Amino acid sequence: MTSTSNVRPALSSDLDMLLELDAIARREPRRREFLAQAIAAGQCWVAEDARDSSVLLGYGVLDDSFFGQAFIPLIVVRDLARRRGVGSDILRALESQCTAAKLFTSTNASNEPMRRLLAKLGFMGSGHVENLDEDDPELIFVKLRS
Ligand SMILES: CC(C)(COP(=O)(O)OP(=O)(O)OC[C@H]1O[C@@H](n2cnc3c(N)ncnc32)[C@H](O)[C@@H]1OP(=O)(O)O)[C@@H](O)C(=O)NCCC(=O)NCCS
Repeated sequence: MTSTSNVRPALSSDLDMLLELDAIARREPRRREFLAQAIAAGQCWVAEDARDSSVLLGYGVLDDSFFGQAFIPLIVVRDLARRRGVGSDILRALESQCTAAKLFTSTNASNEPMRRLLAKLGFMGSGHVENLDEDDPELIFVKLRS
């Protein structure tokens, strides 16, 4: 099967399109600031549409914000591009950038799509944190790398 997307490091010129595809970034200044900082720090990767590289389908961030460990704080795929393998492309690309022995990420217990994506790509549960979002624990996942 040909890939839906090609993943590359984000450029500052990508910011507007990333804000446009991310509903939370459109309404929350904190998400916009986070994204701009991640791009500036070289911690953000974007998925281009394989048929038209001017169209961005999603993005992911890899940093060390979890107890100094390699961590994926966010993957977002454009609504209309979901369930076509873009999230998997981004996650695999972030994994390939990661040189640490352990790669962590987290998501809300209610986020079934992300939980399934993580299970499919071999991440396993590594605990949870209560009291961040009400009645929706944050589940921690890890992938132990050889
Ligand atoms: C979670 C998210 C990144 C998945 O992206 P995606 O491009 O749709 O994921 P993929 O197409 O690569 O899906 C891979 C697998 O994940 C699982 N999956 C993804 N979306 C799913 C859904 N809506 N329901 C059930 N399983 C789902 C499936 O196992 C799927 O494999 P399959 O299609 O062969 O069954 C996307 O839904 C998203 O952007 N959500 C909003 C932001 C978010 O919650 N991010 C995660 C927290 S950081």
